[in-house]
Amino acid sequence: MATLGVNIDHIATIRQARGGRDPDPIHAAVLAELAGARGITAHLREDRRHIQDRDIYILGQTVSTHLNFEMAPTPEMLKIALDVRPYMVTIVPEKREEKTTEGGYPVREKERELSEKIATLRENHILVSLFINPDIAEMRSCARVGATHIELHTGAYANAGTANDRAAEEDELTALKNAAMAAQRLGLRINAGHGLNYQNVSPVADIDNMEELNIGHSIISRAAMVGMDNAVREMVSLI
Ligand code: PXP
Repeated sequence: MATLGVNIDHIATIRQARGGRDPDPIHAAVLAELAGARGITAHLREDRRHIQDRDIYILGQTVSTHLNFEMAPTPEMLKIALDVRPYMVTIVPEKREEKTTEGGYPVREKERELSEKIATLRENHILVSLFINPDIAEMRSCARVGATHIELHTGAYANAGTANDRAAEEDELTALKNAAMAAQRLGLRINAGHGLNYQNVSPVADIDNMEELNIGHSIISRAAMVGMDNAVREMVSLI
């Protein structure tokens, strides 16, 4: 059965809007865990637009489920990961001009540089997931570079739903299912995320061998209305 990992980046987005201390993503992580989240995800971006170094270090010491540290594979981030020693690192592409992580990591193009970094993380007993589009060739590359997990980018599926394009939504769901089957055959464990919300999460949670769904924006948006506890519990029950 799939479990929920709550991405708390946007609690930090609200804090950074004023540059003070509130709201604190550490508090949000505790509340999410108490409400049934089985993991906490945070993305330390190169431009530090939301999560700050202090957040990642404190989360490393306080998360009692597991910490999934999202990062671009830069020397600076690798060093922080080796200091914090999260349960898992999820490698994502990063562009300064994007609002959010818009596409999967181009693993095929970067196999050599990824292999080395993944080997270093694995030697330090950190699981490594690669955030990728549901593409079979990308998945073969993920297995070659030594990743333990993939995180399937569900953005195209979510966007089709938002546009009310039911045929495209069905096609994107089929692509996710096929990708999950291929990943399973390659010995990769499967997570998914991006754009998942209270309306579209269930079919993705039902995909065979799905382990963890990483969900941020929809949960934090709902938490602003009904509180973190209610928002997380509702998502856990849908999953
Ligand atoms: N997974 C990854 C790898 C991401 O980069 C993001 C967005 O930061 C998410 C999941 C969560 O996406 P959303 O905020 O749309 O739920």
